[in-house]
Amino acid sequence: MSADKVFAPGLLAGRVAFVAGGTSGINLAIALRMATLGARVHVLSRKAEKVAAAVAELQVHGDAAGSVADVRDFDAVAGAADECAKRFGPIDVVVSGAAGNFLASAADLSPKGFRTVIDIDLIGGFHVMKATYPHLRRPGASIINLSAVQSYTAIAQQVHACAAKAGLDSMIRALALEWGPEGIRLNSIAPGPVSDTEGMARLAPSDGHRDELTKNIPLGRWASKDDIANLAVFLASDASANISGTLLVSDGGYSTGRG
Ligand code: COA
Repeated sequence: MSADKVFAPGLLAGRVAFVAGGTSGINLAIALRMATLGARVHVLSRKAEKVAAAVAELQVHGDAAGSVADVRDFDAVAGAADECAKRFGPIDVVVSGAAGNFLASAADLSPKGFRTVIDIDLIGGFHVMKATYPHLRRPGASIINLSAVQSYTAIAQQVHACAAKAGLDSMIRALALEWGPEGIRLNSIAPGPVSDTEGMARLAPSDGHRDELTKNIPLGRWASKDDIANLAVFLASDASANISGTLLVSDGGYSTGRG
């Protein structure tokens, strides 16, 4: 459903959004939805060609910019946050969504493989929040972290992602406590399976995998990228002004049957 059917046009007019990982997948869908609702958006990811393509797509809707940076490199992320603030002013919304994942049993996963996912998802998330912190509009800023159902429910061949996402969600609560008095809100979104994403192509590579997953979702549907973008807009907007330190789950009921 298009953004203007769900949200008032101009809902995010005048706001500045910094979207880490915002050049593909769910993060790009979030960046685009915020741009169509009036936000000026700065995206960040590792590959120059993906940054250029995303910025061109975003500029159709308004002012947008981007930086090439790996979330594992704090100085690069801090440079991107500086650029964003210099160009657009104080940051109202931070989306921290850069992630890496693959299926691997713990027995087969190398220590480096485990560390790589922790480095990107958990430490990278900290880098994004710490680097943007000095530039946040306060009071009023909203930090939105892309978690996953792996944060609180065990999923086989996902020990690395389970640990990383659980760490991220714990970090969100700790930062909500520390930064709340400055009027900064932090929340996580935990999607279950999301259609048309690289993540799910990696985690459910065959029809068999996909059918098995769908059978276990009470609503019988996967999220669309726009479903998740809508949640992000809600968390970015004044409609969620009293919500901080929470995890909003969008999984069609998938985790209700998983203990
Ligand atoms: N199974 C097991 N181990 C894997 C793996 C897989 N499918 N993919 C990577 N690893 C391990 C590597 O083997 C390596 O460890 P080793 O040297 O001990 O063997 C370690 O992870 C680092 O891999 P490398 O490819 O050098 O790291 P990278 O920084 O280039 O890649 C990843 C990061 C691993 C997350 C990669 O999968 C990636 O870039 N993915 C793209 C983004 C993505 O996953 N999107 C979906 C988000 S939900």
